[in-house]
Amino acid sequence: MASWWWKGAIGAAMTKSEDNDKAPQNVALIVGVTGIVGNSLAEILPVSDTPGGPWKVYGVARRPRPAWNADHPVQYIQCDVSDPTQTQSKLAPLTDITHIFWVTWANRPTEAECCDINGTMLQNVYDALLPNAPNLTHICIQTGQKHYIGPFETFGKVKPHETPFVEDVPRLDVPNFYYTLEDLTLEACKKKEGLTWSVHRPAAIFGFSPHSMMNMMDSLCVYAAICKHENVPLKFPGTKASWNCYFVCSDADLIAEQQIWSSVDLNGKNEAFNCSNGDLFKWKQMWKVLADSFEVEYEEFDENQEYVSLAERMKDKGPVWDEIVEKNNLLPTKLEEVATFWFADLMFYGECMLDNMNKSKEHGFFGFRNSEKTVLSVIDKMKAHKIVP
Ligand SMILES: NC(=O)c1ccc[n+]([C@@H]2O[C@H](COP(=O)([O-])OP(=O)(O)OC[C@H]3O[C@@H](n4cnc5c(N)ncnc54)[C@H](OP(=O)(O)O)[C@@H]3O)[C@@H](O)[C@H]2O)c1
Repeated sequence: MASWWWKGAIGAAMTKSEDNDKAPQNVALIVGVTGIVGNSLAEILPVSDTPGGPWKVYGVARRPRPAWNADHPVQYIQCDVSDPTQTQSKLAPLTDITHIFWVTWANRPTEAECCDINGTMLQNVYDALLPNAPNLTHICIQTGQKHYIGPFETFGKVKPHETPFVEDVPRLDVPNFYYTLEDLTLEACKKKEGLTWSVHRPAAIFGFSPHSMMNMMDSLCVYAAICKHENVPLKFPGTKASWNCYFVCSDADLIAEQQIWSSVDLNGKNEAFNCSNGDLFKWKQMWKVLADSFEVEYEEFDENQEYVSLAERMKDKGPVWDEIVEKNNLLPTKLEEVATFWFADLMFYGECMLDNMNKSKEHGFFGFRNSEKTVLSVIDKMKAHKIVP
């Protein structure tokens, strides 16, 4: 559910509807429409009082459209944007696009390869749209906190920036596909007068999408459902440091709201913004919320337990998941598709990674979320869409 708590939100919405005859309609292309933030954008953009609306929305992903995404009034386009020919043939005809929301990525074994593939994907979309969409005015690029700490392959090897992270620090001296996306976008904007950009850097995203490549909350819901099914307590699978330290998350709907704000408010343009909920929590507090939601026994962190990653704990649970799906008549999913335990392990390993939200607020975006409500809302969606019992 969107909440428009930013300066000018009402104005932006009103100007558009009063001026409907003159202004061209805003037309969004969400690249990654079934992802964790893509699905939120697909839900929020078409709503009638969304700033800049009424929006027409196109959404791109490779797989066929899943049932849990199908209610959003979005023109769904199956397209692999890493393939230049397919991208040209499917996206170049969409000449009415005014805004691009880049909420996708590809993972590869090395960061050099990540730079290559993610750069190619984005450039393919620019090559299809820049010459063909005359009203293209803004590009939102979603990256993240790895901007400040470096890519997965250099974790623990390069000195990250100090937390709380602020946006305008120099880049780290390592390859990072986030930097590639920024550079290509600045180049694209130089080529087209009036075209603006914004970069959005969330922390761990809490949102609903069984098609996401990194979804911590969906993974924890699946873990809790497995513990419940096996009638065992919900053990915390992280380190002692991660049980006790402060944690920030980014509600997927809030990120979508910040991107929409940047798209329609002059103060949000040509800048990079952190985007997190604006509160802090500790897993030692939130663990009870998860346990209660799945009616599974809560367990305190056990000082004496040996560290065993969640991926390791869950590595043989595929058949158990199949049983849970069948017994509860859930939407058919495979464990490896619906849970990304490796990502939860990363989030549960380290110390706090806080960001500073001043820049976003100083520019006029005041959105925030209560993280406990974020967690409960993801759990509700997981249950409502019959992904977990
Ligand atoms: N998830 C997090 O917690 C998190 C936190 C901080 C930063 N980030 C960053 O946010 C950015 C976006 O990631 P995300 O997590 O929001 O994405 P995501 O949830 O993994 O979603 C990816 C979306 O892109 C689609 N997709 C993947 N490859 C594609 C291709 N070649 N052509 C067309 N569509 C494709 C996927 O659907 P199909 O598979 O069906 O194509 C899906 O809709 C990344 O840079 C990531 O590092 C993520």
